[in-house]
Amino acid sequence: MEKLVIRGCRRLQGRVPISGAKNSALAIIPAAALGDGESILYHVPEEEDIHTMCQILQELGIQAWRDQDKALHILPGELKTEAPYELVRRMRASFYVAGLLLARKGEAQVPLPGGCSLGSRPVDFHIRGFQALGAETSIEHGMMIARSPGRLTGTRYFINRSSVGATVNLMLAASLAQGTTILENAAREPEIVDLAIFMNTMGANIRGAGTNVIRIEGVERMKGAQHTILPDRIEAGTYLLAACITQGDITVEDVVPEHLNALLRKLQEAGAEVQEDETTVRVAAPQRLRAVDVETAPYPGFPTDLQQPFVAAMSLAEGTSVIRETIFDRFRYVDELLRMGADIRVERDTAIVRGVIKLTGAPVEATDLRASAALVLAGLAAEGVTEVLGVEHLRRGYEHFEDKFRALGADIHAEPVES
Ligand code: UD1
Repeated sequence: MEKLVIRGCRRLQGRVPISGAKNSALAIIPAAALGDGESILYHVPEEEDIHTMCQILQELGIQAWRDQDKALHILPGELKTEAPYELVRRMRASFYVAGLLLARKGEAQVPLPGGCSLGSRPVDFHIRGFQALGAETSIEHGMMIARSPGRLTGTRYFINRSSVGATVNLMLAASLAQGTTILENAAREPEIVDLAIFMNTMGANIRGAGTNVIRIEGVERMKGAQHTILPDRIEAGTYLLAACITQGDITVEDVVPEHLNALLRKLQEAGAEVQEDETTVRVAAPQRLRAVDVETAPYPGFPTDLQQPFVAAMSLAEGTSVIRETIFDRFRYVDELLRMGADIRVERDTAIVRGVIKLTGAPVEATDLRASAALVLAGLAAEGVTEVLGVEHLRRGYEHFEDKFRALGADIHAEPVES
């Protein structure tokens, strides 16, 4: 166990390279196992969730290893059809192996991912989609068991809410099905587009990714391919919000600026200076931001994954912001911000954030990945020392976290926690 110790009140400035997108890699890694040969993936971040996904694939009989240049190789072998609970329970994206196994083996036994600190997170849209593709499914002993007598068959399926996970899982499952699948109300996130680009390089036939209707012509087989994972817009957004909360000046490098649109427009409205280039974005906040209202929404709306760091930034803004969370139950970290002197009231799905003049350092505990980022940002701006517990959540999705922040001038380091 470790904690992060932060001495705050430093203006952060400089340039920071952004890693490959965790959520894209988590979909692309199981997709690589749909091919008959080896795939090589570049820019896959070294993060705990990626490690978990690779371990699950290894348990299923797929080789996954990094070469000396950090490229990730995936080589499918003879597949087992049952995924291990101990690994699957660690993250919801593990459920993607259901789509993979159904496509390749016509059978999948995958533990249901269960709830998590973001509240109830069902996978009913995924399962109903598998049924629409012709699989018979049942839940036994906490496990989803899905079987299809032959190849899955193409179908037309409307995803109730434009779920990222269901869209990924059904793209995987339908890619080797017989006939055409049309996914309606599909997620439009850039990570879905990245997945489609990779799968098409493998020989899949997917059109419409990036719109609400994705059309998948099933193919008989796919081959291995090479791909570079797109940049992580959530990691980039976290550093840009760090510029805002510390009244600093940060440039994120190797990004797709357009993927950050919703955040950047809000930051401009709040008075930050934003400069966009082809692959970089610079945000400077020479003075205190003004409070602005935000409502999270599926892409291209404001990402729920940046809601928590955004609230941290607004806690020091001038005025009152109203932040509505429409995707998950994601306000548990607010109590920790209150301990640092923030003035926030949560009413059901809405946080009313009254900006304060200063935050003060305190020991706080993170309960999920983006909450940990929010608490670190608050600590970077707070007077005195902040200690953030629950760092294991942060390790799931940020690469070289302290190094990158130190390069921007932060005083932050990890220490072991005595139990
Ligand atoms: C993905 C992202 C996560 C991000 C989220 C929303 C990955 C690995 N994770 O999560 O970082 O915060 O998108 O952008 O890419 N739902 C159901 N039934 C289902 C599936 C979803 O009711 O079968 C609900 C969820 O509870 C939630 C909403 O639909 O309220 C959207 O969830 P979804 O887009 O599926 O999120 P994830 O794929 O889990």
